Amino acid sequence: MAGDKSVETTGLIGWIDRRFPLTANIKGHLTEYYAPKNFNFWYFFGSLAMLVLVIQIVTGIFLVMHYKPDAELAFNSVEYIMREVPGGWFIRYMHATGASMFFVVVYLHMVRALLYGSYRKPRELVWIFGVGIFLALMGEAFFGYLLPWGQMSYWGAQVIVNLFSAIPFIGPELAVWIRGDYVVSDATLNRFFSFHVIAIPLVLVGLVAAHIIALHEVGSNNPDGIEIKEKKDKYGRPLDGIPFHPYYSVHDIVGVAGFLIVFFAIVFFAPEMGGYFIEYNNFIPADPMKTPPHIAPVWYFTPFYSMLRATTDEFTWVLAGSAILAAVILFARLKGSMKVIAPAILVVVAVLLRLIDAKFWGVVAMGGAVVLLFFLPWLDYSPVKSIRYRPFWHKLLYAIFFINFVILGYLGTQPPSDFFNLLSQIGTVIYLAFFFVMPAWSRVGPFKKVPERVKFRPH
Ligand code: HEM
Repeated sequence: MAGDKSVETTGLIGWIDRRFPLTANIKGHLTEYYAPKNFNFWYFFGSLAMLVLVIQIVTGIFLVMHYKPDAELAFNSVEYIMREVPGGWFIRYMHATGASMFFVVVYLHMVRALLYGSYRKPRELVWIFGVGIFLALMGEAFFGYLLPWGQMSYWGAQVIVNLFSAIPFIGPELAVWIRGDYVVSDATLNRFFSFHVIAIPLVLVGLVAAHIIALHEVGSNNPDGIEIKEKKDKYGRPLDGIPFHPYYSVHDIVGVAGFLIVFFAIVFFAPEMGGYFIEYNNFIPADPMKTPPHIAPVWYFTPFYSMLRATTDEFTWVLAGSAILAAVILFARLKGSMKVIAPAILVVVAVLLRLIDAKFWGVVAMGGAVVLLFFLPWLDYSPVKSIRYRPFWHKLLYAIFFINFVILGYLGTQPPSDFFNLLSQIGTVIYLAFFFVMPAWSRVGPFKKVPERVKFRPH
């Protein structure tokens, strides 16, 4: 456990240990950190996320040596990196591929947390720091995407910053304040550069440290959702735990090798990934006078972008109706002061949904879809953590949720049409209902009995 104070007393390590808790930390976080012995494939993605973070920081440092954050020079400085700087193309493609692969890895890492209930007590803070990381990562990617100053960089930023102008009263001024100008311009590029290169990376690294410290305080969950600390040997070591080092440090090398094969295959053979990792329009320099016919964000934003586009004026009727229905149900079921307060809030929301412009609610839907994740630990009332011991129909619900998220992602990449918009609206309802109705559906069984010890088959 972290906090073991035993130290070396002799030699160089002894000298360091008397001044800095080196051995105690190596023991607490590596050699005497007991992780469940039944980790599977899904547990590769935490260490992979750390690897991608390092790749992004190192390649980013080299890019900044040649990149020019100036609207007149930015596009050409990226071309210069690609064509003139020795190995520049390699560094740039690693950084661009790393951005998308970061999201691939983090999305899979989050899926694991959902499947095994890793967000539940006592890991609520691990999860909350995780959602914070996810938000910071979205900010980091958004700011970074403006820097090459291509058509998509420019118009993507224009569309997203314009969303803020939908906020009642302060919106238009807020949008100008964010851009530092009336349109996206050199001032915007400079501030986005500063956020991308220093502010958000600092926040990200801090959050990742907090994420790991919180995890090591409570210990890892596992595919069975069993707390291994509840069964210990006479030395106080969890019976189902094995030291992180050397067992998982070596195990993770397999994940790293597999990941690097995929990563470099993309870097060398398909860095644009069919326009999904680097959009074709971004090979054209930004032109404030020419709007591209179809502006779509990069794939990792598109599920949320679909929810934004789905929120039309008619759709706010559906949302307002749902809020009223929820108010009636809560009024019938709740007791005490909440019986009146909760339904009253929902009725006010329903009225506001029709009073304020749909564009604003689109922004709320998009942001709310992420913010909702913070509350997940308090929405899930299932008596078991892991999907393994949940009823079949829960598995079906999770499958629908994940497939729906992918479909929303696809729809967000496509030009708008009536049919696609209807699909996006259905998808948005499924996404929101999954979480909002979770307190009700998650407690309904039949649940399987959770074993006392983790399931483990040596291989
Ligand atoms: C830079 C991004 C991230 C890094 C470097 C990172 C790193 C890690 C590492 C190393 C672990 C332990 C190994 C493992 O369980 O895979 C872990 C566990 C965990 N992470 Fe993350 N993480 C990141 C993002 C996130 C996000 C976005 C979320 C959720 C929104 C999240 C939620 C969790 C949870 C719940 C656990 C505990 C899992 C368990 O014990 O079953 N992480 N993370």
